Amino acid sequence: MRRLLYLMILSAVMVAGQKTAAIAPDSLAPYLPTPASIVTQMLEAGNLKAGETMFDLGSGDGRIVIAAAQKFKANAIGVELDDALVAKSTQKIAELGLEKSARIIQGDLMKQDYSSADLITVYLLPEANKKVTQLLELQLKKGARVVSHDFLMGSWKVTKEITIADDGTGRSHTLFVYIR
Ligand SMILES: C[S@@+](CC[C@H](N)C(=O)[O-])C[C@H]1O[C@@H](n2cnc3c(N)ncnc32)[C@H](O)[C@@H]1O
Repeated sequence: MRRLLYLMILSAVMVAGQKTAAIAPDSLAPYLPTPASIVTQMLEAGNLKAGETMFDLGSGDGRIVIAAAQKFKANAIGVELDDALVAKSTQKIAELGLEKSARIIQGDLMKQDYSSADLITVYLLPEANKKVTQLLELQLKKGARVVSHDFLMGSWKVTKEITIADDGTGRSHTLFVYIR
């Protein structure tokens, strides 16, 4: 029920954005950051290990990429469409001295190569996730993991589902984990 409500809010944000032409035509979801406590749980759920390569598809302010590089010592890459978010996250990466292990690609997440990924994280809308699964089915190596925040990855079989009843603000979250 909460997820349905959240989907409605996300969709409303998106529609409002489209009305003001604030959202680029290729946008698959509006910007809504994952809370910091959930970021860590996403990376743990994806069993991210030092030296592995991870991508956050639609990386927002770079928080997942930064945590992956800083806390998990991964090679972390974000893909983001929005110029301001790319600038903000790239600046943060530089301030933290993480340039060797974290970077943001400015562009459409549907036009990238994820064949090197050990882990993919996403926080997009359900319809977007369906498109992403079609791309990842062609590109991901065997054994790669995918963690989706709150929404299923189309018809993929879920390997593990984790529910966080309260993130500290009263909001619940679900993480869907997949192993390809
Ligand atoms: C719900 S936010 C999630 C941000 C971040 N992953 C997090 O969990 O904090 C979705 C992000 O995807 C970006 N986005 C939407 N469509 C995109 C596309 N086609 N290519 C790249 N980024 C996209 C949006 O600009 C937004 O920053």
